[in-house]
Amino acid sequence: MSSSRVAFVAGATGYTGQAVVRRLVADGVRVVAHVRPDSPRLGEWCERFIALGAEVNAAMWTGPEMGDAIRELGVTEVYGLTGTTMKRARSLARSGGDAADASHEAVDYGLTRHLVDASVAAGTRPWLVYLSSLGASPSARGSYLRARGRAEVAIQEADLPWSILRASFITGPDRGESRPAERVGAVLGNGLLAVAAAFGGKRLRERYRSIDADGLAAILVALPGDEARQGQVLTLDALRG
Ligand SMILES: NC(=O)c1ccc[n+]([C@@H]2O[C@H](COP(=O)([O-])OP(=O)(O)OC[C@H]3O[C@@H](n4cnc5c(N)ncnc54)[C@H](OP(=O)(O)O)[C@@H]3O)[C@@H](O)[C@H]2O)c1
Repeated sequence: MSSSRVAFVAGATGYTGQAVVRRLVADGVRVVAHVRPDSPRLGEWCERFIALGAEVNAAMWTGPEMGDAIRELGVTEVYGLTGTTMKRARSLARSGGDAADASHEAVDYGLTRHLVDASVAAGTRPWLVYLSSLGASPSARGSYLRARGRAEVAIQEADLPWSILRASFITGPDRGESRPAERVGAVLGNGLLAVAAAFGGKRLRERYRSIDADGLAAILVALPGDEARQGQVLTLDALRG
């Protein structure tokens, strides 16, 4: 199947990002998987994405350089799937790096800000799909949800078509990275939500129950071009099949 869609996936190496790349390729979309230029696994990722049928781009994380790439590649949709954890920041500090480079401010807000600036600088108005989190708000108390909230505002203020999806737990047995707390939280949460659903809380269950990367990817890739979802902050209860 051929398509006029060209997708640029930022965060392509992550759990969700890899699934989005796979899903888009399967749908016949031309896919450009972005890998950070300083990735110690750049060569390995190039091989893996090319074997899947995607292209690879390793533009610097700056508005102008990434913007040039988005324009020159003829990108019609951009996916913002990057994100960090406190564990990543601690691990960077242990290996002699600056933990601030892996902070929520630098990654969850900062990289999204660059992606927005790049999408605007491209001048071609690609549709920006951003994976956010339930509870995101610029006035949230925690640094993660606050950074996500600020990223959402940056998107909403940009002159672009956009869709934001606020997910809860993204996890599944196929997640390579070990995140036991997230898995346990998802299993317990899903159990409680099943009870709530039995008492009429189906919508609540659909919003909060965990989702795996393949399920999420199918939802995300259907957003660009869907005018009813343009300029919308969405939750999963409105989108699960
Ligand atoms: N996990 C959840 O339960 C959950 C729930 C709601 C929302 N979210 C959000 O959804 C998004 C995707 O989640 P996920 O679980 O798929 O994420 P993930 O597997 O942790 O992947 C994170 C992605 O961000 C990239 N990244 C991290 N730090 C970076 C940096 N300093 N420079 C450039 N790239 C960087 C990673 O690239 P490298 O591989 O090169 O490090 C990777 O591609 C994240 O934004 C997350 O915050 C997650």
